[in-house]
Amino acid sequence: MCGIVGAVRESDTSGFLLEGLRRLEYRGYDSAGVVVINQSGRLERARTVGKVKELERALTQTPLAGTTGLAHTRWATHGGVSETNAHPHICNGTLALVCNGIVENHEALRHSQQEAGLAFTSQTDTEVVVHQVYLHLQNGLDLADAVRATMDELAGSFALAVVHAGEPGRLVAARQGPPLLLGRAEKESFVASDINALLPATRRYQVLENGDVADIRGASCAIKDSGGSPVERVIHTSTQSGAGAELGEHRHFMQKEIHEQPRAVSDTLEDRLLGDRVLEDAFGSEAGRIFDATRQVLIIACGTSYHAGLVARHWLEYVGVPCEVEVASEYRYRRHAAREGTLVVTISQSGETADTLAALEEAKRQGVVGALVVCNVAESSLVRESDLVFMTHCGPEVGVASTKTFVSAMTGLLLLALVLSRRHGFDSGFEAHVVHQIRTLPGALEAALAMEDAIAEMAQVFSDKEHALFLGRGAHFPIAMEGALKLKEISYIHAEAYPAGELKHGPLALVDEKMPVVAVAPNDLLIEKLKSNLEEVRARRGRLYLFADPASGLESREDVTVLHVAPVDSAIAPIIYTVPLQLLSYHVALIKGTDVDKPRNLAKSVTVE
Ligand code: M6R
Repeated sequence: MCGIVGAVRESDTSGFLLEGLRRLEYRGYDSAGVVVINQSGRLERARTVGKVKELERALTQTPLAGTTGLAHTRWATHGGVSETNAHPHICNGTLALVCNGIVENHEALRHSQQEAGLAFTSQTDTEVVVHQVYLHLQNGLDLADAVRATMDELAGSFALAVVHAGEPGRLVAARQGPPLLLGRAEKESFVASDINALLPATRRYQVLENGDVADIRGASCAIKDSGGSPVERVIHTSTQSGAGAELGEHRHFMQKEIHEQPRAVSDTLEDRLLGDRVLEDAFGSEAGRIFDATRQVLIIACGTSYHAGLVARHWLEYVGVPCEVEVASEYRYRRHAAREGTLVVTISQSGETADTLAALEEAKRQGVVGALVVCNVAESSLVRESDLVFMTHCGPEVGVASTKTFVSAMTGLLLLALVLSRRHGFDSGFEAHVVHQIRTLPGALEAALAMEDAIAEMAQVFSDKEHALFLGRGAHFPIAMEGALKLKEISYIHAEAYPAGELKHGPLALVDEKMPVVAVAPNDLLIEKLKSNLEEVRARRGRLYLFADPASGLESREDVTVLHVAPVDSAIAPIIYTVPLQLLSYHVALIKGTDVDKPRNLAKSVTVE
């Protein structure tokens, strides 16, 4: 999943392209590159390994200038992280191309292109695309027709943009899978993987559909659909804030975003509650009709968002709504038995996760009563593809490790469970009780954040560990999974989560005095069961680190460190117990000195499968 930005401008475009890359860096930061057509009608390119700031440094030393250009930030799929594998790729010194996605038949194409005498300079799948366009140009096709012919020969999922040195002022873009937007201004045109990259130049944009090829010449843009017929795509006006997120007094975005959680949740709740009821309209104007027809819920998501779904399953099934939760990358390729009355719910911070989008498409193909998305980005693909939308109002989340959007998505899913509970015989007293607890969330989150100093001290123990186990039971098992994911993601410590009752079925063999075992222990119906599981760990000389309710009876002793979490109702406990685990992973990463906001090998938004 890479980020593409391109422009045909009246004046120099290199500043716009660089700013676009900064805004798209969440899609990948293995390497970055830019190409422009200079005043003499030649391609000038710069590429660097690492983050966009490396490219910025290179361009300060050797600036590029031109009114037409392309840029790219890469998350490596085919071919290692190197300057030669960085985009833009160039063929014959005249044709430059950037691509986001995967070309599945690249090996066969590479073979036939080599036979045709073309030389390769990279190991990427993308280089075959620029060569293929070039071959079609050689055969007399016009640039846009050459791109169309190439698209028809490619298997896979990709979005691309191409410029030719002989045609300054022209850019051709195409989409077959990952999103690609056209930015429209009075005298100029732009292309980008998302709206953020366009905002410094324009708010007006069109969304290319699958199979579209857009032929941009200055301010004019002709789009042809997959059948080659001219089409008009709606011009939207973005209402998204153009400002990038600021770090303020914090050391990292992750830390800032953890501390923003009380505000993110209270903003997410604003106008969603009336007295002691949840407003059904919070999910969209069609919510009543779709929820009336809902017999079960199918939740689809990836990573942290998947964990939010697993927590939601407990809430939904508690109120009598059958619920399945699926990892999107598995669901999309599995055969399913369709179930009548299914509401499909996707959860996604970005709204652009390729697997989740594809899984939603598959669920719709099976037949659903409606599609609801819980999302943090209003102008995103999943929002466009859904009938109902619950927006989390977190503001931009910059840290690759999701924090505030996880907590806010869970809050939205708890509201969903309440709205559906009305249709399953739960009375208004039940809803009123839970709504009352939900209103305490911002304060309870503040109280959990106040544990930071004690957690920072606890983190010392973890910094030289290679492994850790995380335990939880019931709705807190997904919280343990999330804690383990956070630790893996930003401190590169191998961490596994288990339902505490499952330890004795195998994982207990891993436990010895070197294995730290973290557990979340709210004072719920399973607390005594959990305590027995913790004793099993102690009996094997395991070292316990517990986040526990004071009423649990769990106290620190020689082999057990307990940090008490202020008491909370079990309805909201999973949301609150998330915070200490986020802080633990953050402080371990601080001690280890890893790149907290941009951990190695990852990207904020995963737009390839
Ligand atoms: O944007 P999404 O919520 O769809 O992203 C899904 C996952 O890629 C994401 O949650 C990932 O697991 C996070 N980096 C975890 O912190």
